[in-house]
Amino acid sequence: MKILFYDATSYDKESFDKELEYFKEIEVTYQETDISEKTVSLAEGYDAICAFVNSDLSAGVLEKLHEIGISLILLRCAGFNNVDLEKAKAYGITVLRVPGYSPEAVAEHAMALALCVNRHIHKSYIKVRENNFSLVGLTGVDFYGKTAGIIGTGKIGAAMCRICRGFGMRVIAYDMYHNPDLDFVEYKELEDVLKESDLISLHCPLTEETHHLVNAETIRMMKDNVVFVNTSRGALVHTEDLIQGIRSGKFFGVGLDVYEEESANVFENREDELLESSITARLLSFPNVVVTSHQGFLTKEALAAISEITLQNAMDFEKGQIKEGNRV
Ligand code: NAI
Repeated sequence: MKILFYDATSYDKESFDKELEYFKEIEVTYQETDISEKTVSLAEGYDAICAFVNSDLSAGVLEKLHEIGISLILLRCAGFNNVDLEKAKAYGITVLRVPGYSPEAVAEHAMALALCVNRHIHKSYIKVRENNFSLVGLTGVDFYGKTAGIIGTGKIGAAMCRICRGFGMRVIAYDMYHNPDLDFVEYKELEDVLKESDLISLHCPLTEETHHLVNAETIRMMKDNVVFVNTSRGALVHTEDLIQGIRSGKFFGVGLDVYEEESANVFENREDELLESSITARLLSFPNVVVTSHQGFLTKEALAAISEITLQNAMDFEKGQIKEGNRV
């Protein structure tokens, strides 16, 4: 099987090349540019393409993939909101993903963001490098004894619940499905989770229902001085409302690994550009906001698992033995 691998980075090549030693039937060609209507024709002659979380898999791209005979998309990620699923189905294109690789990787990043904004690590790192050892402006709060509110308690949310429990926090959560492994978690209505939590972390998928789940109304319900973290998907949050909330002093700190309008930024080096996107520029202007570039998944363990499952998905497709849980 010949796979064209779009948007390839050095860390992708490293982890996939290691794994390819166990998949001799697969040949991968790495392509640095991402898929788009302009670059889709590069896939001609391949059996499948491999794409990532922000790759453009909208109707136009899928139509062209179909025209050149591609019937398999291998997503090397869990999320699939970038894929026009109706069109994929209509064109008979199978889309496979990696539903879970290292939930702990993302949950640990969520806690890293929460700790960073709470204890002002981003500020003290810069200050100390400038020989400024003053502690003024660096006061945080203990997470110990406080309440963590986790929205979505699937694989990553459950890992975040366990981490918060390890910090000595009371853990409450909102999810339609109560995870039976989390006997230490109190499930509550969304409104109560928002009202009672000192730390709120989002771990639900982006769906029609969860789109802009965090908005002016739900922000108003939150406690003053809440620490808010989003490592899930940008559009779970109405960013204009979040910015208003930050301006009004609602948040002690905000940690965002994902945000609306991240697509132009994510995984790109734009250091020579003036950032025109007002959302990115405004988010970066607040001293109590830390933004990372969709890196929650980026650990060696997660990359190894992603490569293995993606290549196994390709083999399973070839043999007609697709794992239904991996089908989008
Ligand atoms: P999962 O499918 O194991 O869990 C999602 C949970 O959200 C489920 O328990 C589901 O019942 C719940 N849920 C669905 N709709 C909900 C709603 N309206 N309100 C509350 N809960 C709701 O997914 P997993 O693996 O835990 O991933 C969660 C999200 O994390 C993904 O959808 C993806 O957006 C994001 N993610 C981010 C990464 C990063 O690098 N920052 C990497 C991987 C995933």
